[in-house]
Amino acid sequence: MTSHPQIAILGGTGKEGSGLALRWARAGFPILIGSRDPERARHTAERLRAIVPGGELIGLSNAEAAAQGEVVVVTVPYEGHAPILQGLRDLLAHKLIIDVVVPLDPQNPRRYVPPPDGSATAEAQRILGPKTPVVGAFHHISHLHLHNLEETPECDVLVVGDHREAKARVIALAEAIGFTAYDAGPLANAPAVEGLTAVLIGLNIRYKAHGTGIRITGISSKKQS
Ligand SMILES: NC(=O)c1ccc[n+]([C@@H]2O[C@H](COP(=O)([O-])OP(=O)(O)OC[C@H]3O[C@@H](n4cnc5c(N)ncnc54)[C@H](OP(=O)(O)O)[C@@H]3O)[C@@H](O)[C@H]2O)c1
Repeated sequence: MTSHPQIAILGGTGKEGSGLALRWARAGFPILIGSRDPERARHTAERLRAIVPGGELIGLSNAEAAAQGEVVVVTVPYEGHAPILQGLRDLLAHKLIIDVVVPLDPQNPRRYVPPPDGSATAEAQRILGPKTPVVGAFHHISHLHLHNLEETPECDVLVVGDHREAKARVIALAEAIGFTAYDAGPLANAPAVEGLTAVLIGLNIRYKAHGTGIRITGISSKKQS
């Protein structure tokens, strides 16, 4: 991977995807905003370019973005998760996939509803096959913090999946936009990582907070054993 790979964001017109796009664009990464409607993607790219002058952002269909991106980030609501991955499976082969999707109860987002595969990340890994590395990440980063570019993010990023080298690349991509990121273990841990998002949403609602997050304590060196 070059130091600045092209990052495609499926559902990049939305709250989370456009927030990640802003942060990476500001850090110098070329961004491909994907949408079901390329016109909407172009609009979003234009809007984000106005916020990050000089940012390399273009709007495309999800398929075009998937085909061109070296790294592909999935930021669609859970209902669109399996369909979009199934539809773009061949285009996504062998790319680095970052899955941000959390399967929440649409009636009550304080509840995590694990899909039959156990997690969205595991579902993506099954659909795309073992040769396409899927890494779950950024589930705990509220779009509110991503969009406020004045803010240095306080929340840590937990990275989960079965491909060690892919996780190291995602940690580097998170660190490039100011996060502290940790390898949170294998794909089997994805339900815990994704599920924590529902806990945070519950805290936001219960305590009238905006964008609660998590911080890992007790680690003095990021050198792994
Ligand atoms: N919002 C957050 O703070 C946050 C934080 C962590 C994780 N997440 C996760 O990130 C994902 C996206 O969240 P979000 O808040 O950004 O959602 P969103 O704004 O509601 O939707 C994101 C984009 O997904 C596309 N989309 C909507 N329904 C779709 C469908 N059925 N099939 C394919 N594409 C569809 C839309 O783009 P087009 O109409 O342009 O195609 C939309 O702009 C969710 O899984 C969420 O759990 C969100």
